[in-house]
Amino acid sequence: MLLVNANLATMTDHRYGLIHNGAIRLAGNRIAWTGRSDDLDPDALDADTVLDLKGKLVTPGLIDCHTHLVYAGNRAMEFEQRLQGAGYREIARLGGGILSTVRAVRGASEKELVAQSRPRLAQLMSEGVTTVEIKSGYGLDTRNEIKMLCAAESLANLSGVRLQKTFLGAHALPPEFANRQDDYIDRVCTEMLPAAFEAGVVDAVDVFAEGIAFSVEQAAKVLDAALKLGLPIKLHAEQLSNLGGAAMAAAKGALSVDHLEYLEAGDCAALSRAGTVAVLLPGAFYCLRETRLPPVRALRDHRVNIAVATDCNPGSSPVCSPLLVMNMACTLFSLTPAEALRGMTVNAARALGMADTVGTLSPGKKADLAIWNTANPADLSYHAGLNLCHATLLNGHWHKPCHEI
Ligand code: NIG
Ligand code: FE
Repeated sequence: MLLVNANLATMTDHRYGLIHNGAIRLAGNRIAWTGRSDDLDPDALDADTVLDLKGKLVTPGLIDCHTHLVYAGNRAMEFEQRLQGAGYREIARLGGGILSTVRAVRGASEKELVAQSRPRLAQLMSEGVTTVEIKSGYGLDTRNEIKMLCAAESLANLSGVRLQKTFLGAHALPPEFANRQDDYIDRVCTEMLPAAFEAGVVDAVDVFAEGIAFSVEQAAKVLDAALKLGLPIKLHAEQLSNLGGAAMAAAKGALSVDHLEYLEAGDCAALSRAGTVAVLLPGAFYCLRETRLPPVRALRDHRVNIAVATDCNPGSSPVCSPLLVMNMACTLFSLTPAEALRGMTVNAARALGMADTVGTLSPGKKADLAIWNTANPADLSYHAGLNLCHATLLNGHWHKPCHEI
């Protein structure tokens, strides 16, 4: 297939890697060639399908590198409580928060989890997402953590989305381990993670390091157990306070550290040294009405790669719009629209350890493309609530009807 007369945002330089009047040739499920239409080999015009995109923007398919989109029930009640002054931490300490979703997930079958989560994934995909990361973390025992990851796998099979499944068994302390945090961490390391790994449903491992969750030392134990199994690691760090989790995870070679509102500028060097991606989650910042900003300038100064994700979850970020999150990344965190798009493409791919296969429009990478009803890549971040996605190609297959093309 050959796409011509496109505005390509290849994401291969420090901004958009723009090619005006570009063309892109696909061979099976891979990108074979990108460049200016004028430089196209005339033989290429013999492709089975030649589509004139009439100046539309083409970007790599969007990558949402941090979600908890598989869950049951919802927490609208807590949203109302927070609006009346209750704090996120206070609600969690009283057994609500993450544990409220744990009760709902434990009570749901895998089929119910899939059915309830499907509209959220469909929404992400309708806005250009072709790769998504989905975490467990609302099961908190072996059977229910595996159930969540199997539900994620089923969603990928149903939708065709490219998926990374992340084990987040250490997301909160389940009630049956009350006051026995270390025992639970042992259980995670010696039983839950190995069992989920054995079941073949774990691609990466994450931990929530926070006052209301686990200490940096406890998180380190889980990350070490993951590394022993040869699994890549990442960490929820410095979301509500600064415990030093980001530097710890970076020192262990983490793919990413996520949230980071309370990261100290001084810790950015550790991320930079390790090549660890800083994943910013403006949806959680917005929904929790956080006021402390992540140290974006220091991250830039240290050339840390910045990704942006929805953090789609029932508590801190009930947000299913990657485009709105790009807008928030600009408005709330002062990212440029180019940084926001890099955050949902090339840098998100790095955060998932998938930079060799997706994230840029480059020969050899998977044919995961998003086509937009605009020519200007800044428009993706500029609007709030306007879905400019015209169609996506996922692994070389159309995902939204390309009726107008
Ligand atoms: O990324 N920070 C921890 N985990 C989620 C919130 C989960 C929840 O509140 O259900 C987050 O914000
Ligand atoms: Fe999260």
